[in-house]
Amino acid sequence: MHTIVLATQKGGSGKSTLAIGLALAAKQAGHRVRLIETDTQGTLSNWQSRRGIAEPIVETVYGANDIEHRLQSIERGGVTLTIIDTAGGVSAATTAAIRYCDLCIVPARPSLADIEATASTLHLARAWKKPFAFVLNQTPTRGQRVHNATSALSGEAALDLADVLAQPFIAMRNDHQDALGVGLAVGEYAPSGKSADEIRNLWRWIETRLNGGIVAGEQLACEDGKAEFPIMFVPTPAVEVAAPTAAVGPLPARPEADASWDACL
Ligand SMILES: Nc1ncnc2c1ncn2[C@@H]1O[C@H](COP(=O)(O)OP(=O)(O)O)[C@@H](O)[C@H]1O
Ligand SMILES: [Mg+2]
Repeated sequence: MHTIVLATQKGGSGKSTLAIGLALAAKQAGHRVRLIETDTQGTLSNWQSRRGIAEPIVETVYGANDIEHRLQSIERGGVTLTIIDTAGGVSAATTAAIRYCDLCIVPARPSLADIEATASTLHLARAWKKPFAFVLNQTPTRGQRVHNATSALSGEAALDLADVLAQPFIAMRNDHQDALGVGLAVGEYAPSGKSADEIRNLWRWIETRLNGGIVAGEQLACEDGKAEFPIMFVPTPAVEVAAPTAAVGPLPARPEADASWDACL
């Protein structure tokens, strides 16, 4: 079983929306999917209530100490993909979710505030030696590429963005909100629409990454047909990560883990 977690400190960046969209895209691609909600705000549970269809099951797990155990029993039940949706901010549950995931997805709107808010999540992912990928969400649909939301950085540091910037970007479209409002995923609500298409392609990118595939250099087009990595990040100096709470134990010493793929950021 693969486990992905959607996490970033910033609320409204699209964690829950993407969790739902990706869950259904993966299900349509043949996975047995489970959604775990660690956010007491209950976006996924409320969506599931509106949905009136059992699948995908949404489980609420609020305790950091319960996450590992739940993942183990979900895997024993034959689920092939678990997607964990987390609350904004940094909590013990989010820390534990990242600890036990295979890939940490960090959604961000193309704004400086959203980009800056990813820092604490990146630090956690690094601390647990977990791969991560940004998903640029709610990007403008037309007219302009997404300009650098941070101070531009030299091309050298941007090179490795191909590894950590998921493709394609997910444009801002009503379909996402309308689908959630009626308990559907965007791939069910408007299956032939652009939003559904983007989410399906995003799932393919993530699946390739989960399977260790090389997706670097594979540049899916933005809506305007130009395929670029227009957003650049300033590498932050290494920050000492506070040890996660006692509830989820000390940081692991895993010298065998390969940290190279986020070393550039
Ligand atoms: N790509 C998108 N296009 C349009 N609306 C979106 C998109 N992604 C998210 N939204 C909307 O933005 C709001 C916040 O998204 P949500 O997934 O709840 O964020 P988070 O879980 O990170 O707090 C919701 O109303 C959601 O429907
Ligand atoms: Mg949410």
